[in-house]
Amino acid sequence: MKISDETIDRVKSARSIVFFTGAGISAESGIPVFRGKDGLWSKLKPEELANFDALLKNPKMVWEWYEHRKYIMKESKPNSAHLAISEFQNYFPEVTVATQNIDNLHRRAGSKTVYELHGNIERNYCINCHTFYNNDVPFVDGIPKCKCGGLIRPDVVWFGEFLPQDQFNASEKASEDCDVFFIIGTSAVVYPAASLIYTAKAGKAYLIEINIESTEASHIVDESYFGKAGEVLPAILEKIKN
Ligand code: OAD
Ligand code: ZN
Repeated sequence: MKISDETIDRVKSARSIVFFTGAGISAESGIPVFRGKDGLWSKLKPEELANFDALLKNPKMVWEWYEHRKYIMKESKPNSAHLAISEFQNYFPEVTVATQNIDNLHRRAGSKTVYELHGNIERNYCINCHTFYNNDVPFVDGIPKCKCGGLIRPDVVWFGEFLPQDQFNASEKASEDCDVFFIIGTSAVVYPAASLIYTAKAGKAYLIEINIESTEASHIVDESYFGKAGEVLPAILEKIKN
C-alpha cells in the first residue's frame, strides 16, 4: 500500500490525532459488521433486537442474541489495526479514539483515551434501579433479573436512544481541536456519531479515511485508502516511525 507524502507530513507534524472507528476495524478480529451483503442487518431485523421495546416484548430473544455477541467479542482479540492505534500513543501527545464499537477491543489493545459512543457490551444495568453489572448477570429462566426484580439490559445504545452525552461531548471537543482525523471501517451513515466527521472537517483537521470501499464520507475526506484497516494502519505507522 502506497502512503502519500502528504499523509506522512500531516501525520508526522500532528499534535493531536482522533481515530473515529466503526465495525470494519474489528472485522479482522472475526466480529461481523452490520451493513453490506454479509452484514448482520442483512439477515436480522434491528427493530426486533437492537431496540428497547423489543427487550420488553421479547427479553429472551434479545438476550440470546446479546449472549451470542458477548461470546464472540469475548473470544476475539485486538487485531493489527487496534494495536497500531495504541502504538500511536508512543509518538503523539494526544491520541483519542471515538468508537461506535461496543467490543472493548481498543481498550484491550492498550488505547488510553477511548470514548464509547454506542456503549460497551461488557457492561449491563437494571432498567429499574440502574444498578450496574459486569458479565456475571444473574439469569432467571433465560432472562437476567436484578436483585430488585427489574430487567437487566446491556449498556449499549439502541435505535431511537440517545448517545451517552459525556462520551459524545468529549468526542466532539477532540474532533474540533485535532490536527488529523482518521475515519476507519465505518459506513458513516449512523447519526449523530457520523457528525463527528463534519465537526472535524469544520475545524483544522486533515481527514484520512481507511475502508475496503467508498462510503458516505469519501467525498469530503482529504485522502482515502482503500484496503483493510489491519494492513493500512500498520503501513502508515511504519512510515511515521521512519
Ligand atoms: P457498518 O457495518 O455500517 O460499516 C462497516 C464498514 O466497515 C463498511 O463501510 C465496510 O466497507 C468497512 N469494512 C469492512 N471490513 C473492513 C476492514 N477489514 N477494514 C476496513 N474497513 C472495513 O458499521 P458501522 O459504520 O460501525 O449501531 O455502523 C454504525 C452503527 O450501526 C453501529 O455502531 C451500530 C449499527 O447499527 C448501534 O448499534 C447503535
Ligand atoms: Zn434493579
